[in-house]
Amino acid sequence: MKIIVTGGAGFIGGNFVLYAVDKYPQDQIINLDALTYAGNLETLKPVEDKPNYKFVKGDIADREFIFNLFEEEKPDVVINFAAESHVDRSITDPGIFVRTNVVGTTTLLDACRTFGIGRYHQVSTDEVYGDLPLDRPDLLFTETTPLHTSSPYSSAKASADLFVQAYHRTYGLPVSISRCSNNYGPYHFPEKLIPLVISRALNDEEIPVYGKGENVRDWLYVTDHCKAIDLIVRKGREGEVYNIGGHNEKTNLEVVQTILRILGKPESLIKYVTDRPGHDLRYAMDPTKITTELGWQPEHTFETGIKDTIDWYLNNKEWWQNIISGEYQNYFTKQYKM
Ligand code: NAD
Ligand code: DAU
Repeated sequence: MKIIVTGGAGFIGGNFVLYAVDKYPQDQIINLDALTYAGNLETLKPVEDKPNYKFVKGDIADREFIFNLFEEEKPDVVINFAAESHVDRSITDPGIFVRTNVVGTTTLLDACRTFGIGRYHQVSTDEVYGDLPLDRPDLLFTETTPLHTSSPYSSAKASADLFVQAYHRTYGLPVSISRCSNNYGPYHFPEKLIPLVISRALNDEEIPVYGKGENVRDWLYVTDHCKAIDLIVRKGREGEVYNIGGHNEKTNLEVVQTILRILGKPESLIKYVTDRPGHDLRYAMDPTKITTELGWQPEHTFETGIKDTIDWYLNNKEWWQNIISGEYQNYFTKQYKM
């Protein structure tokens, strides 16, 4: 099988490529990535010389490039991880989110329609459902929860999902969609909460917490997400949406305090800063469908996963120090004014 993985130089796509190249030596994995600020080929070092792996630099919204690639490679499967993925950046600059997340997705769908495909899989997010109140722990997102987005990021992701479903209904394209909760683990870009806290705490720098730190996220270790996607692509039903999550809800403050405790750093590093505009209160996934239909179960609890993640950042300082020493400094100063 020939699989094009888009966004495979990013956090989740990178973890997926490492997993798939190793697990399926008989498959060809083509990693297609534009190498934006979030893409990093250092992540792919362990597989770069494997015979079943190839990297191609390119933009999923570049129609001519994508059509040429599909004509040449004739992939059996496309898994679309490529996206602008950071909510804060979408608030500052929404346009690129429309281009990559919406135009990029429809360009891939058109290429699949033109050249044929066994399965197109869209990697989506729980953020398409909007948020849940903090005082109703009984409420969870299911696959039938209406789309109700808050940020330019989630609006672009929801729009992409609607196009994927439209191409299934209108053209019969064999598609699937997964919507996952917050991921964490190795190779996570340090603009996102968990790697930001780890990297700054290790440098004894202040940690910005939005509002009162009471917003809730539902955390899943990244390889549990990768395994769920693999299962959906190979065994999931065409045209279906599958929610992915492991019932690991934590307030942001709990997450920050846990990391500081494990690292032996003081809570005085926490700095409460102006809240994110439109900040979603709580995400919580109901993964019953993927659990009962496909037998998926997460292998990591938050307690084991966060320790493994911290160990990875301690043992791979070069990977993240290279990132935070570059353009990232300007981003951080502009975003946090600190
Ligand atoms: P990321 O920002 O770490 O990586 C995105 C990758 O896409 C980068 O390698 C980047 O270079 C590439 N890319 C960006 N624009 C591109 C373009 N126009 N053409 C080709 N490549 C391009 O993102 P991530 O956190 O790994 O998220 C991957 C996917 O998973 C996204 O679609 C995101 O919406 C979804 N998702 C993320 C999470 C999470 O917690 N991080 C949770 C659920 C779903
Ligand atoms: O839920 C899935 C989504 O999770 C994905 O679709 C997104 O691509 C991914 O970025 C993530 O979105 P969040 O906005 O939830 O993740 P982030 O790490 O940016 O923030 C997590 C929580 O921490 C959120 O409530 C905002 C808060 N936060 C974040 C940062 C970066 C802070 O308090 N301080 C910060 O500096």
